Amino acid sequence: MSALLDAAPLLRCPRCAADVTVADRTLRCATGHSFDVAKQGYVNLLSRPPGAAADDAAMVAARNALLDSGLYSPLADALTRVVHALDLPAGGVLDVGAGTGYYTAAVLETLPNRAGVALDLSAYAARRAARAHPRLASLVGDVWAGLPVRAGAIALVLDVFAPRNAEEFARVLAPGGAVVLVTPRPEHLGELVAALGMPQVDPRKAERLAATFAGFAQGPARCVRETLSVDGATAASLARMGPAAHHVAAAALEHLAASESTTDVTLSVDVAAFVRP
Ligand SMILES: C[S@@+](CC[C@H](N)C(=O)[O-])C[C@H]1O[C@@H](n2cnc3c(N)ncnc32)[C@H](O)[C@@H]1O
Ligand SMILES: [Zn+2]
Repeated sequence: MSALLDAAPLLRCPRCAADVTVADRTLRCATGHSFDVAKQGYVNLLSRPPGAAADDAAMVAARNALLDSGLYSPLADALTRVVHALDLPAGGVLDVGAGTGYYTAAVLETLPNRAGVALDLSAYAARRAARAHPRLASLVGDVWAGLPVRAGAIALVLDVFAPRNAEEFARVLAPGGAVVLVTPRPEHLGELVAALGMPQVDPRKAERLAATFAGFAQGPARCVRETLSVDGATAASLARMGPAAHHVAAAALEHLAASESTTDVTLSVDVAAFVRP
C-alpha cells in the first residue's frame, strides 16, 4: 500500500484523467471514479477483460521461475548500466508491460527515493509485481488505452520485451526523461526458434524502433549477447514465457522439458535509451 500512496501523485484517472488519491484501499479520482486495491496489492484499471495479449498464469509462472534462476541477470545488469548513463530529471519510474516486476525492481534498487509504477495487461503479472519491490505500485492497464499517468510525471519509462506506445511515453515523460527499451535481436533464442518453429524476430526491428522514436534523441545503448547452456526444463520455460508460447504445440514443449541433455541457447538483445527533448 505504501508504494501506491507514494505513486498516487504520478497517476491520473484512466476514465477522466482527473488527479487521483488513495485511501481505504481504494484509488479514487475527484470526479468519483473508484478502483479497489485487490487483496494481492495491485489495482485493476481496465474497463473490459484484457484479451489474449495478456500473459496467462502459465506464462507468468514460467517467466517468474526463469528470472528467479538468475539466467537473465546479465540483461538486468545491462539495463541498470544504461539507466545510470542517463542524466534523469525528477520524476517516477514507469515500467510498461512490466510482467513480474523483475527488471523494475532491479532498476528501482539502484535509484533510491524514486517511486515506481508497474503497468501490465495481465493480473497474474500484476500480482507478482505488487510484491517485487517496496517502492513499486502495481497496476493492471492497457498501454494502448492511454496511460493512467499524469503528463510529465515520469523520469524513466522502461519497456522490456513489451508493447511500445511512443506518443504516450512522450506525454508522461518530463523533459530530459528517457525511455529505455529492451528488444530481441534476430538471433535471440534462435536455437529454440528453429527447433520449435517459433515466430522469428523481424530483422528490421531496430530500424522500425528508430522510426517509432524519431521524435526522441538517441541515448546510451548496449547489446547483450551470451550463449546460455540450459537443461530441457529451462529451455522449455524460455519458450513458454514469451508470446511465442501461443504458437508452439504443447507436446513439443513437454518433450523439450523432459529432455535430459543440455542445449545451447543464444541470448541476444539490444538495450537502447531514447531521450525526450
Ligand atoms: C514478453 S512479456 C515481458 C514482461 C517483462 N517486461 C519481462 O521482461 O519480464 C510482455 C508483457 O507485456 C504485457 N502486455 C501485453 N500487451 C500489453 C498491453 N497492451 N498493455 C500492457 N501490457 C501488455 C503482457 O501481459 C506481458 O506481461
Ligand atoms: Zn475519473
